Amino acid sequence: DKGNYRHFMAKEIHEQPEVIAHTIAHYADLAERRVDIPNLAVDLASLERVTLCGCGTAFYAGLVAKYWFEQYARLPVEIDVASEFRYREAPLPENGLAIFISQSGETADTLAGLRYCREQRQHIASIVNVQHSSIARESDVVLPTLAGPEIGVASTKAFTCQLAVLACLAIAAGKARGHIDDALEHELVGALVELPRLISRVLREEQGFADIAHQLSHAQDMLYLGRGVNYPLALEGALKLKEISYIHAEGFAAGELKHGAIALIDENVPVVVIAPPGRTHEKTMSNMQEVAARGGKIVLLTGESGGAPDCEVMADCRLPDVHEFVSPILYALPVQLLAYHTAVWRGTDVDQPRNLAKSVTVE
Ligand code: F6R
Repeated sequence: DKGNYRHFMAKEIHEQPEVIAHTIAHYADLAERRVDIPNLAVDLASLERVTLCGCGTAFYAGLVAKYWFEQYARLPVEIDVASEFRYREAPLPENGLAIFISQSGETADTLAGLRYCREQRQHIASIVNVQHSSIARESDVVLPTLAGPEIGVASTKAFTCQLAVLACLAIAAGKARGHIDDALEHELVGALVELPRLISRVLREEQGFADIAHQLSHAQDMLYLGRGVNYPLALEGALKLKEISYIHAEGFAAGELKHGAIALIDENVPVVVIAPPGRTHEKTMSNMQEVAARGGKIVLLTGESGGAPDCEVMADCRLPDVHEFVSPILYALPVQLLAYHTAVWRGTDVDQPRNLAKSVTVE
């Protein structure tokens, strides 16, 4: 039931404050601001490596988590799309944890990757939205996302809930390995706890994103730029736009653009720049100027405290300021809203885009 929404995708975007709060509450003690991962029968302190694996949007959630595990837990991370990983014959360490990320829990390549890791004697964890699924059944530990059923083919609330679970797991790993003390744990869990309220604030600005999407809906090609923990959001933004609006889009690491793809930029190419305030803000803003200088039409996504852009922009979108750690979860919202409204303007079948299935059980 779509309720008052025109599409399941819109309904699922709007459910995010609630389902993220619900998911965080499952993995953290909100009053104490501590993480607590139920049933995690893995010694995070002695792990050699984490292997992350998934497809599409689930893979991008893993890519964000790679930054978190490295930075906050000093844990080496291996990550790949399942369709490559399963055939690579990757050597894996004795004491490794492999985490499979899948909304449906039925993606054939992800399941094959899991079976490979089982042969390699890894601890197997899965982050799934469908708890009675093949991937869940074959895992040592199941870490559910509590997003509720996701009907729209484009993944939205499952993605942000996957990120919420992975964020809690990264904090738990950092704690177990002595890289996160009590004060930092409070700070990071506090940042997670704040998210649902901040996401609701972004949702109240939906009309602004719909207006920008109207302009984007005439584009033939678009680029998304991001850095660091928000680089995967650029990939996710491009995927979401492609799959529902059928506009060609690519995501790039902002600093990589000048190594070739900047040649694509002209006045017909909108470029979404994901640049929350924080460590990489300045660098991303200067990449944005390079794009603007070549005529690219900029849609800037940044925070209230981010400086004014030094170049002409088509749109300057200000999100609530947020802890850098959880910024990929907040910035998923404008990325989803831009893709959704662009598709609506173009009149495509948002919930059932052509050529796509909700659950990919063929290899
Ligand atoms: C994109 C999308 C797909 C899925 C991918 C994996 O919006 O929905 O890229 O993320 O097919 O599906 P699951 O998570 O079910 O394994």
